[in-house]
Amino acid sequence: MSPAFSGNSLRSKVPIMNKYIDLVMARCGELSAKKEDINVGKLLNWLCMDVAADLSCNWKLHQVRDSKNHSFLDGMEAASFTVILLVSAKNYPILILLAPFFLPWKTIRAIPSMFKELRMQVDKRTRTSSDSAHSDYLEQILPNNKATFVNGERMKHIVNVAAQLIVGGYDPTSVAIYMMFFFMLQNPEVIEPLKDEIRRSFRTYEDIDFETLRTLPWINACMEETLRLSASATHHSLPRQSPGGIVNGEYIPQGVLCRTSLFTYSRSERYFYDAKSFRPQRWLREGHPMYDSRFSGDNKSAHMPFITGPRQCPGREVARIMFRLIIAKIIWLFDIEQTSKRLDFERDFAAYGMWTKPELRVRLSRAKRESNKAQV
Ligand code: HEM
Repeated sequence: MSPAFSGNSLRSKVPIMNKYIDLVMARCGELSAKKEDINVGKLLNWLCMDVAADLSCNWKLHQVRDSKNHSFLDGMEAASFTVILLVSAKNYPILILLAPFFLPWKTIRAIPSMFKELRMQVDKRTRTSSDSAHSDYLEQILPNNKATFVNGERMKHIVNVAAQLIVGGYDPTSVAIYMMFFFMLQNPEVIEPLKDEIRRSFRTYEDIDFETLRTLPWINACMEETLRLSASATHHSLPRQSPGGIVNGEYIPQGVLCRTSLFTYSRSERYFYDAKSFRPQRWLREGHPMYDSRFSGDNKSAHMPFITGPRQCPGREVARIMFRLIIAKIIWLFDIEQTSKRLDFERDFAAYGMWTKPELRVRLSRAKRESNKAQV
């Protein structure tokens, strides 16, 4: 699958991301004009899942357009706790028998119908040849990318891949961008330099492009710091079977199940100074006006939000592009003010199969600038 996530193939997916992001910005503009609040978690769920489903297999969920959950998102939300149960059942199989006592009926019903709908969608997609105006990940796994009839085990495999790409693409990306809203509203001192960098770098809204965003130090520092503090994959602690080898001077026999927790070491003072605080400065190079030498001893190699090695996240660049485009566009267009109650990380957030997104509401007002002609 890796060719789907690099070079021209990756570039061809950016217009699709921008199409949905621009729709969200237009919606934000309407709400801002009416002085209405925005529910950040909800809007990001719709946006990230619409993009993930469209990029996965050309499936249009239209959640942003219709401002409402698709049944697939309802199913995902209901299934979040189920993931914990299934992962734990690997070690404690009795949990499968007890599942009906833990899971609401709504969840038990939602999961098969989610897969049925996805299968129908994948079936439709495999019978359609590639569309040069629309690029998706399935292009890389369908034979010669031609309309074809697939069934049996092959179909099961393709449906599984499509599901992984939707769930993997939607959940951690929406969490990371939500967390960026949370951290910047908790730490308003990071917003001014962000406004300054974004509004100075792009004269018009249309000028905002993913290549330039890759080079801007402050938005990238904010992104790395957000990824550090909101490390995903908390629920199953990345289990790996040892092939037999020495780790830290100790022999780990073949077959032993090893686990680690990104969340724990990302927040450890052993690797990061002032580890639990949101400090984007730690990612700046010496010479940047906001560089702070207190962070120079940080062990940056402990920062692996997408893990490392052959099973590292294939969608890491897609996630970074989405993150930068959404944050840059919203900051270019609007000033942000939190209207819901102040959240507390330790008290209000929980991770099951997915991170919960406690209610975070904001009011947006149009950024004041000399020329406002390029607004959406
Ligand atoms: C900020 C966003 C993201 C984060 C933090 C993230 C993180 C991760 C991590 C830590 C893993 C390894 C999990 C494990 O081995 O158990 C992983 C795997 C995966 N991710 Fe992501 N991811 C993100 C976005 C995406 C996106 C946008 C896509 C798809 C376009 C994606 C698709 C996948 C897939 C398919 C795998 C499984 C890879 C395999 O098993 O070989 N992820 N991700």
